[in-house]
Amino acid sequence: MTTIIKNGTIVTADLTYTADIRIENGLIAEIGQNLTGGDTLDATGCYVMPGGIDPHTHLEMPFMGTYSADDFESGTRAALAGGTTMVVDFALPNPGQSLLDALDMWHNKTSRAACDYSFHMAITWWGAQVFEEMETIVRDRGINTFKHFMAYKGALMVDDDEMFASFQRCAELGALPLVHAENGDVVAQMQAKLMADGNDGPEAHAYSRPPEVEGEATNRAIMIADMAGCPVYIVHTSCEQSHEAIRRARQKGCRVYGEPLIQHLTLDESEYANPDWDHAARRVMSPPFRSKQHQDSLWAGLSSGSLQVVATDHCAFTTQQKRSGLGDFRKIPNGTGGLEDRMPMLWTHGVATGRITMNEFVAVTSTNIAKILNIYPKKGAILVGADADLVVWDPKRTKTISAKTQQSAIDYNVFEGKTVTGLPRYTLTRGVVAIEEDTVKTREGHGAFVRRPPVTPVAKALSTWKDITAPRKVTRTGIPASGV
Ligand code: URP
Ligand code: ZN
Ligand code: ZN
Ligand code: ZN
Repeated sequence: MTTIIKNGTIVTADLTYTADIRIENGLIAEIGQNLTGGDTLDATGCYVMPGGIDPHTHLEMPFMGTYSADDFESGTRAALAGGTTMVVDFALPNPGQSLLDALDMWHNKTSRAACDYSFHMAITWWGAQVFEEMETIVRDRGINTFKHFMAYKGALMVDDDEMFASFQRCAELGALPLVHAENGDVVAQMQAKLMADGNDGPEAHAYSRPPEVEGEATNRAIMIADMAGCPVYIVHTSCEQSHEAIRRARQKGCRVYGEPLIQHLTLDESEYANPDWDHAARRVMSPPFRSKQHQDSLWAGLSSGSLQVVATDHCAFTTQQKRSGLGDFRKIPNGTGGLEDRMPMLWTHGVATGRITMNEFVAVTSTNIAKILNIYPKKGAILVGADADLVVWDPKRTKTISAKTQQSAIDYNVFEGKTVTGLPRYTLTRGVVAIEEDTVKTREGHGAFVRRPPVTPVAKALSTWKDITAPRKVTRTGIPASGV
């Protein structure tokens, strides 16, 4: 059960140095020079980094009348092939459904997972039962994040009063709320108007969700979180308006996190102008792809630190599934894939172009996520005692992305034809080699649920501040006589 990774350069979020790594029983046992014994993996010419963590996936997700096509088997296989060793998916209760029942349903999907995983719990309705069960989810079920959709009116969307109530509960429990920030009321009206005007194609999906829809909702979520006294994490930040709201709040001292997706960083709105309906519909997701100026803003956020995480929101639908929206763009299942491509695309367009450093690459694909989700340094670190979730990254390996060679179950890839340089030589999940260059050695069922305890240092600091600044009744020394 001993493996040595030899001759590589270790790259973490804060250090770059030359050392070997000894792995025993799935954990990092030693980091040092000239280590010997056990199986050897040669990392000559490679960077040895913490495996990626994708904090935002939807595997086998029931959505818009169908299920996303990648399940925990193909999804985690795709993840590992691209250097990602942990995914965090979303348990979505139906309106009125117990959170605990929903969580059991999601656990039942994972028996074939090949890498470790965790869940966020979605708040899709509100009531005394949800309020009570949130505590059980946090205290007993190992989940410290709750997702809120401000979009998808009539389905997953919650109102401000529900969001404020849930955020306050998160503050009490030391949990972190996540928000899909788009104004669902405005989207619904814009969609209806576009359809009434005969705009029924996939491009109308983008027209119905301009950056203002996202900027407004992001700002609203941040202000509500501030009033509730909790941190907040904005998922799939896609535009300057949303980034600006995050940046401004952080400058003010608020604990706000922003998560651009690799899709928004590298693909733009011109995709929706493609005359091929399938091409455009395959790229329908919320928020939609934006202009180059918005992309520049997201890249600037990663290099300056105002955005902390790069995810995929992997939610893959086949062309056939997308076609259920022919004649009505509102019925095109929203979502795109990216699990296999996030790390190579970010390396190629981020590190190789000088937009981010290697250490920042590790931070935004792994370490920052592990810290925000409170699983650091079990995950996201190269330290003795940490899980040996590692990627031996060959900066010279190259390929052209194609649906023909991908792990994902769908019949296309939104990055089709893009050449990436920088790929895993090996991906290890808790010490087990799952990927060796083009050879997939993933083991179904190897993946385990990762418990995430509440009360990060940030949550603790915020609750301390909240207690100190809570409204207090003024004790008065004199009361004026009435009628004077
Ligand atoms: O279009 C998207 N993003 N689909 C997945 C569900 C969500 O909103 O994250
Ligand atoms: Zn309401
Ligand atoms: Zn979303
Ligand atoms: Zn999502």
